[in-house]
Amino acid sequence: MKNYKKIITNIYKDLKSIDDPGKVANYIPELANVDENNFGIHISTINNEGFGIGDANKKFSIQSISKILTLTLAYKLIGENIWNRVDVEPSGNPFNSLLQLEADFGKPRNPFINAGAIVVCDILMSHLKNPKEDFLTFCRNISNNSSLNYSEKVAQSEKKSGFRNIALCNFIKSFGNIKNDVDAVLDFYFYTCSLEMSCKELSEIFLYLADETYTNNKNENILTTSEAKRINAIMLTCGFYDESGEFAFRVGLPGKSGVGGGIIAVHPNEFCITVWSPKLNPKGNSYKGMLFLEKFTTNTENSIF
Ligand code: DON
Repeated sequence: MKNYKKIITNIYKDLKSIDDPGKVANYIPELANVDENNFGIHISTINNEGFGIGDANKKFSIQSISKILTLTLAYKLIGENIWNRVDVEPSGNPFNSLLQLEADFGKPRNPFINAGAIVVCDILMSHLKNPKEDFLTFCRNISNNSSLNYSEKVAQSEKKSGFRNIALCNFIKSFGNIKNDVDAVLDFYFYTCSLEMSCKELSEIFLYLADETYTNNKNENILTTSEAKRINAIMLTCGFYDESGEFAFRVGLPGKSGVGGGIIAVHPNEFCITVWSPKLNPKGNSYKGMLFLEKFTTNTENSIF
């Protein structure tokens, strides 16, 4: 664990009570009910060591962090064909933007913006018998964690208020890049976003991106080294929407955020770290989460660069 415990504890104490200019997401009404003072961190290393502090064991809405999990399953199911449906270029646009889809004929720039994740959900719908159950089973299997579940409340809340996603899905369907019924695809997408996990659970589930020899307790290998490289590369270039450059510049790790205020970051061959603080900056990324990770890689002098 090197000196991580001490460094994490010190940064946690420094940031715990700072003035946070961020705002909790409220465009999904149910997300606004969270206590904005939650602040948790957890690191899991590939040697099975772990350390958490603050609200590291409280479950929260992982939102867009689930886009890594849906991508992983779709990639396993259809392999490189997936890139015919969704590209791997940073969008430089907000996560819910419709702007580029017209010029790009309905092919989303990458799987981590909403448009891309909706297409990934459509792919899963075409290949899974019971998409919601099968996806949940996949997540539970990766992490050997049978307590993982969706939040019915959050999924229903987003279903009632997800007008931009409804527009995105219909727009992409008009180009032929959604094959299933739009309402069914959106329902599945909203459920995937409603998954709830703690910082500890998140840092454990994503160890398959840090450890090329990772196997779950059924001895299943989740991704090949080359597949993990590709997903990490998309996280580095696209994981924070129009703030992906800023995250790479300040933190220097592949990562992914969610509007529930969680961020996961991976150091290949070393660890996965999760931070949760619900107040978001104007780009929809956790204000304190980004600051924490910037200080973490600066103080440990350990990023991928
Ligand atoms: O589709 C949405 O808008 C949300 N369910 C997820 C967005 C999200 O987490 C973007 N993250 N920063």
